[in-house]
Amino acid sequence: MTSYGSFPGTRPRRLRTTPAMRRMVAETRLSPADLILPAFVREGVSEPVPISAMPGVVQHTRDTLRKAAVEAVSAGVSGIMLFGVPEDAKKDAAGTAGTDPDGILQQALRDVRAEVGDDLVVMSDLCLDEYTDHGHCGVLDEAGRVDNDATLERYAEMAQVQADAGAHVVGPSGMMDGQIGVIRDALDTIGKEDVAVLAYTVKYSSAFYGPFREAVGSSLRGDRKTYQQDPANVRESLRELALDLDEGADMVMVKPAGPYLDVLARVADAVDVPVAAYQISGEYAMVEAAAEKGWIDRDAAILETLTGIRRAGAKMILTYWATEAAQKLAGRG
Ligand code: PBG
Repeated sequence: MTSYGSFPGTRPRRLRTTPAMRRMVAETRLSPADLILPAFVREGVSEPVPISAMPGVVQHTRDTLRKAAVEAVSAGVSGIMLFGVPEDAKKDAAGTAGTDPDGILQQALRDVRAEVGDDLVVMSDLCLDEYTDHGHCGVLDEAGRVDNDATLERYAEMAQVQADAGAHVVGPSGMMDGQIGVIRDALDTIGKEDVAVLAYTVKYSSAFYGPFREAVGSSLRGDRKTYQQDPANVRESLRELALDLDEGADMVMVKPAGPYLDVLARVADAVDVPVAAYQISGEYAMVEAAAEKGWIDRDAAILETLTGIRRAGAKMILTYWATEAAQKLAGRG
């Protein structure tokens, strides 16, 4: 056998020998402060309602939502993103419940602010799909198409009632053209210059939103392909990004996260505003389902997905595991 002397001369394995060594050279560190908890609050229920496609996630009552917010603060989570689930009878074509100052999301915003004050960044989903009877993110024209500019008027009003109810940040997720600029104007007009806009800048039309539709009780007619992006595209994302920044986005988001890490990396490279990624319902459900079957190590898989999203360039991660993951991370440095 040939002798290679000191071959191989370079041995990357030296830096993987012990947990302390691996920790020291780790290039990416997850911190509870990076995490944001998306949470659902349902009108008119006295007990939390489990979401079958998202084991471990519930539609909160107003009361259990306050508790979840307190728990998130204790775990060191940075923010909470609230979604309202109105009573079915209150859904209509215009999504009126979304702009009712006493609508469920607005009540929840006031509740959570009263409970946690400024200890948690309180964010609200700014979209009509939770409130419309047809399930679309906007209002429809006579031909049944989502009417961009008419929807913008609804979004402007939503931004104002959400800010009035106490949102620190609004998160427009409807993918209408011009939504960031209109919302920024609407907020400034009522003296809410301090309310920030987290733009769902790059939002793909994804099969992985499936479980979310159950979470918000949405019965979508048709699909969202005329407003959400085609999974085949990435240059289009950079165009959306430029527009949102120009219109005044304070932070930008890529969604979903896992199947779009290349997009996330491109976006993170291109901007100097904070970048968020949303690990969505289907990403959550896949890990939970495989773990339940005993096919993967749940805890390791959760942290691996989050680390991957962080490594690709997200500063903040919206994840249904936020509180649990923050608890796991506590003390790990
Ligand atoms: C729209 C919205 C959706 C999600 C967040 N905001 C659904 C959609 O666009 O179809 C999905 C979140 C998830 O799947 O976890 N209001």
